[in-house]
Amino acid sequence: MLQKSQIFIKDNAAQLAREAANIFSAIAGESVTQRGHFSVAISGGSTPRDTHRMLAKEPHRSRVPWDKTHIFWVDERCVPADHPASNYGAAKEDFLDHVPIPGENIRPVRGNVPPEDGATKYQQELIDFFQQEDGEFPVFDLILLGIGMDGHTASLFPGQKALEEKTKLIMAVKGGDPDISRLTMTFPLINRARQILFLVSGKRKAAVVKAILDGGKALLPARYVQPLDGKLMWLLDRDSASELPKDTTS
Ligand code: 6PG
Repeated sequence: MLQKSQIFIKDNAAQLAREAANIFSAIAGESVTQRGHFSVAISGGSTPRDTHRMLAKEPHRSRVPWDKTHIFWVDERCVPADHPASNYGAAKEDFLDHVPIPGENIRPVRGNVPPEDGATKYQQELIDFFQQEDGEFPVFDLILLGIGMDGHTASLFPGQKALEEKTKLIMAVKGGDPDISRLTMTFPLINRARQILFLVSGKRKAAVVKAILDGGKALLPARYVQPLDGKLMWLLDRDSASELPKDTTS
């Protein structure tokens, strides 16, 4: 697994956030140059929030082609947008309200409808946007992921049948912290992305980072992230990388 992933280790969480914002805006620019738009799916949780706040500030605010950027969510808690657990609500507060992105380019998951309906609707929204061939999966330019201490990513938690899903793009699940209904992208969709970037910070994540990257047999959900044709990058800080071999960088 190590040889397939590019691993970058920054000194601390602030430098990790800065590098993540640099990567985001660089991929945004490349995507628009090559394909005329930038499609990105962002995760929730606390780790990406500093990166999101940096995107609302210079130089990234001017660097990202917001008019051609389309923001989707990797997962969402089934709560109203103004609920403190809403990933969309956090992103709106952290950057979406502060950058010149057209409203129609922001594509939140409907968290306040029955989960199965929300999954069906979001799956159709992806299909309508990407217009991929029948049986093909949408290809995001960038997917940002986090990881839980139990090895979950997105809202794909250990032991769930959603881990083995092969055809759906979006599933309704329950779990996590808070332990509530959620909608999540599936691995077949995630693994089609051109670039996948894990953002992992803090000592409490060191053990799970080692368990996933050390090539061992621990079947943790984040191990299922293996892009078919795309690039997988891990952006860590010294704390979250502290249990990896000392020479681990690429
Ligand atoms: C969510 C996230 C989830 C998150 C991890 C890490 O909606 O909860 O998508 O997968 O990335 O739980 O969360 P922290 O960054 O808060 O540690």
